[in-house]
Amino acid sequence: MEFADFPIRESYRLLAPRPTVIITTVNKKGEINAAPFSFVMPISMDPPIVAFASMPEHHTSKNVEETGEFVINLTSLNILEKMWITGKSIPYGENELEKAGLDWIPSVKVSPPRIREVAAHLECELLRMNEIGDHNLYTGSVVHASIKEGSIKDGLLYVEEVKPILHVGGKKFVIGDKVKFIR
Ligand SMILES: Cc1cc2nc3c(=O)[nH]c(=O)nc-3n(C[C@H](O)[C@H](O)[C@H](O)COP(=O)(O)O)c2cc1C
Repeated sequence: MEFADFPIRESYRLLAPRPTVIITTVNKKGEINAAPFSFVMPISMDPPIVAFASMPEHHTSKNVEETGEFVINLTSLNILEKMWITGKSIPYGENELEKAGLDWIPSVKVSPPRIREVAAHLECELLRMNEIGDHNLYTGSVVHASIKEGSIKDGLLYVEEVKPILHVGGKKFVIGDKVKFIR
């Protein structure tokens, strides 16, 4: 048999590697939360709209529903270990960026902060939430975007420099800095 059946419960693992981001949010008190996500994608160019899927029990989900804002922070090889630390479960209201030793700066249009060490940020306002399977899908308008100097080339992400982290699954990641151009 050329192909073996693959369990459909695990089929999302075949859609890999996926860009990995850290989503920053705040609660009503302004306390910062951060967590890694790879179920994330652009869904409209004009107007610019993105979406990500988060389990309902995550603090990220609670905060996005509470405040209607989130920031997508692109991750890079330079923060691989720190990104992993932000994924650990810590009590609500505690700041994963502090735990991970990551620094942050204020955003331009929204309350959640931008991570200083990353190459790009998308500041978003929640458009809608849909309960889908075991995740909630959060769709947001991009209201501001920022890119670190030297991280863009010919209008495209300068991946050779940025070295984006892509999630394969579990503790396995791909570094997306190998480029092939179509002739
Ligand atoms: C690389 C990576 C990608 C992840 N992607 C997702 C995701 O797309 N959706 C999700 O619900 N959880 C995802 N997680 C798990 C959450 O980041 C993790 O459960 C985290 O503790 C949630 O934090 P929070 O409760 O502060 O929001 C991912 C974890 C890692 C390490």
